[in-house]
Amino acid sequence: MTIINVTIAGGSGNLGSKLARAFIAEGGYKVNVLSRTDSQSKNLDNLRSQGVNIITVDYSRDDDLLRALRGTDILVCTLYYTAIGELQPVLVRAAKLAGVRRIVPCDFMAESSEVQAVMHKDMHAIGREIAEAQLEYTRYYCGVFYEYLTTSVSIDLENRKATVVGKGDKPFSLVHDEDLVRFIAASLKSPRSKNARIGFESSSTTYLELIAAIEKHAGIEIQVKHLPVDPSFSFADEIDIKDADAIGLQFGYSAELGVAGPNRIDNDICPSFRTTSLDEYLASRFNEK
Ligand SMILES: NC(=O)c1ccc[n+]([C@@H]2O[C@H](COP(=O)([O-])OP(=O)(O)OC[C@H]3O[C@@H](n4cnc5c(N)ncnc54)[C@H](OP(=O)(O)O)[C@@H]3O)[C@@H](O)[C@H]2O)c1
Repeated sequence: MTIINVTIAGGSGNLGSKLARAFIAEGGYKVNVLSRTDSQSKNLDNLRSQGVNIITVDYSRDDDLLRALRGTDILVCTLYYTAIGELQPVLVRAAKLAGVRRIVPCDFMAESSEVQAVMHKDMHAIGREIAEAQLEYTRYYCGVFYEYLTTSVSIDLENRKATVVGKGDKPFSLVHDEDLVRFIAASLKSPRSKNARIGFESSSTTYLELIAAIEKHAGIEIQVKHLPVDPSFSFADEIDIKDADAIGLQFGYSAELGVAGPNRIDNDICPSFRTTSLDEYLASRFNEK
């Protein structure tokens, strides 16, 4: 079996560390993680003990990056969102010089320009860099992670309140990050992943269904406030991810306007792949027997 040498920039983080473990569980990968010299990540020792090769880098030094990326077949970026704009182009150029074959840039969110603009200053920049470097790419798009549903998507569990834009009856796509990482590890082996934009979802739901499911699993009643749809609403250019109200409003509109997820679903790239339903996730989140 040919072993794929995969390197994850930002692989010590929330998504990246899960992805590193998924590559190991999938098999057929040698897994490396790029981590800053002064990284505070608590995941590094655990990853090391699971056989991940941790490479400390100074992203401002080209020679350091070149050394770190030599031998890599596929470079995946799972960097913190504020670091993406500056570091991804540098990584792509170093990857080209190091002989890396393919880039998986840090997407892992909705594909629409409305939502992309909220997170990225120039959402087309990375596509241009990859094209100029003439590297292969695989880009993964998905909806909001299950994990964030009860934190930053307008459902205030503590105060048992939810703000819904419009009627809340439009379906939108959701993903369990544990499903997404397993899917990435499996689908990167498929020829269909070469130079492809891939949409993946664990499930889809509407706001009202989501609230009802949370009420059932948490055993609480949630007060729902409906905001009328403002036709002059425009998505913000870049937003502070810690501003839960602003994120909730952007998400409410993206759900109402049907731009909260991938443009199409390509789960069939891995035909027998089993996803986690929202019900299963919420049952474990609220610790049901
Ligand atoms: N669809 C969704 O709902 C959703 C939700 C969350 C995230 N995401 C996606 O997943 C990506 C990763 O998110 P995450 O939550 O896993 O990120 P994270 O854990 O906050 O950060 C990932 C890693 O980035 C590195 N990093 C942090 N700040 C940096 C900086 N200033 N410069 C360079 N590196 C830095 C750190 O690695 P070292 O310290 O080891 O260098 C960190 O462990 C996001 O960018 C986004 O695309 C999607």
